Amino acid sequence: MSQTKPFEIPCAELEQQELFAGKVLALNEDHLRKTGRRRLACTRTYGCQANVADGEKIRGILHEIGYEFTDEPDEADFILFNTCAVRENAEDRVFGNIGALAHLKKENPNLIIAVCGCMMQQEHIVEKIRKSYPYVGLVFGTHVVHRLPELVYRALTEHKRVFDSTQSDGVIAEDLPVVREEGSKAWLPIMYGCNNFCTYCIVPYVRGRERSREPDAILREARQLVADGYKEITLLGQNVNSYGKNLPQPIRFSQLLRMINDIPGDFRIRFMTSHPKDATRELIDTIADCDKVCNHLHLPVQCGSDEILRRMNRGYTCEQYLELVEYAKKRIPGLSLSSDIIVGFPGETYENFQGTLKLIEAVGYDLLYTFIYSKRVGTKAANYDDPVDPKEKSRWFRELLEVQAKIGRANFEGYVGQTARVLVDGTGKKEGMLTGRDEHNILVEFEGPPALIGSFADVKITQAHQAALVGSLKAPQDTEAEHNPRPSDSSADRIQ
Ligand code: SAH
Ligand code: SF4
Ligand code: F3S
Repeated sequence: MSQTKPFEIPCAELEQQELFAGKVLALNEDHLRKTGRRRLACTRTYGCQANVADGEKIRGILHEIGYEFTDEPDEADFILFNTCAVRENAEDRVFGNIGALAHLKKENPNLIIAVCGCMMQQEHIVEKIRKSYPYVGLVFGTHVVHRLPELVYRALTEHKRVFDSTQSDGVIAEDLPVVREEGSKAWLPIMYGCNNFCTYCIVPYVRGRERSREPDAILREARQLVADGYKEITLLGQNVNSYGKNLPQPIRFSQLLRMINDIPGDFRIRFMTSHPKDATRELIDTIADCDKVCNHLHLPVQCGSDEILRRMNRGYTCEQYLELVEYAKKRIPGLSLSSDIIVGFPGETYENFQGTLKLIEAVGYDLLYTFIYSKRVGTKAANYDDPVDPKEKSRWFRELLEVQAKIGRANFEGYVGQTARVLVDGTGKKEGMLTGRDEHNILVEFEGPPALIGSFADVKITQAHQAALVGSLKAPQDTEAEHNPRPSDSSADRIQ
């Protein structure tokens, strides 16, 4: 087995970036001295949590090189869109938003408009930006985030457009600064890229090959997050179940979970995404054993037809999936399941689609994330025959939503009367209401003081709505009693 770490960025390259960081900082300090104000950056991230985590690194670097932040594009000196390529509507939104910035660049020729992220790893998209959006001054892809100091330096000094969409298998840059979103939840990438090449999916093309971070680096970061007061850590990877397989000293995801679970403190652990083909009984046992790991499993099935699963290259059958779900339900009382579903994959028939409805009824998901198939240039499925009329696909999609609405509603009704441990993250639309997520990641609304934001609260669930649970805050003494049940008390009404 190889002892090298092929994805690690050489120290010399990171040192070079530090030099550029110093140069940009000096330029920005100079700007401050001359104008009396710091340069402001406005960043927007689209797409999945992997992109959000990248966005936090980008903000970390921008902060380090002397930028402050604003939410208002009109007052920014540097505007950045961190893009997602997973579906066409995500791309359309980005182009619309870039288009809306043309007038700002006219008013302020010194404004730098930057576009990065997954879309920028696709040649045809970069070409479109080059030709049709001349006011975009900086374009870079997912593999060169660590080179941001150099890229910004060039954009500030070279007076020409800067492009860097280096195509590589991908790299890992440890110890980049991070400015996290405010709140009590933190994203913690444990691996990058994807090797699965599901035939509909662009991610492996724009994120490079699968590569895992060393467990020590992850544990260091997790401990720091707990010390900083974060109450929820979500471990991120496109397929966390294959974490660690290619490290010089291989380690399994369930081992990593146990190590993070052992960090002292009052916090909870989530992870995503768990690919069914690599999800094992050991993983299920680990969730059952680890008190900090939420009893929630997001296990995207995508569809309920073996033929379509095979053509999607998913690597499991409906039967294998259902077997694992059955084991998980037995092993983890109160387990909540969620999934992603694609409707209208090329060649999918109404009969195949009926299989999906049957499967979601058999599993009984609390939440479903549903998508109509979107053709992605460069993927295998883009060459498949796709004869079904989009209107027909939309009808199937609505049918799926209706079936799931009933399942979700029935599940949610089942939570009424239970006590949920809610991580409070904000105020609700109605005055006096707070919102948060229970351990199943279900939205819970209840009346309470804003001082609770950022902490856990025990909430007795009183009503089930379509997309949320409603409850009332438990008095501390009730909570105390419930946390210390008498030995004969089954405390069966706790969700957690
Ligand atoms: N790695 C994760 C998913 C990442 S993408 C996994 O394998 O589960 C998130 C979801 O977007 C996918 O689960 C899939 O349901 C959906 N998706 C991906 N490509 C898509 C496409 N071309 N059209 C429609 N939905 C897509
Ligand atoms: Fe895409 Fe499949 Fe990889 Fe998930 S596992 S990111 S769906 S290729
Ligand atoms: Fe989108 Fe890239 Fe994530 S394509 S879903 S932002 S990995």
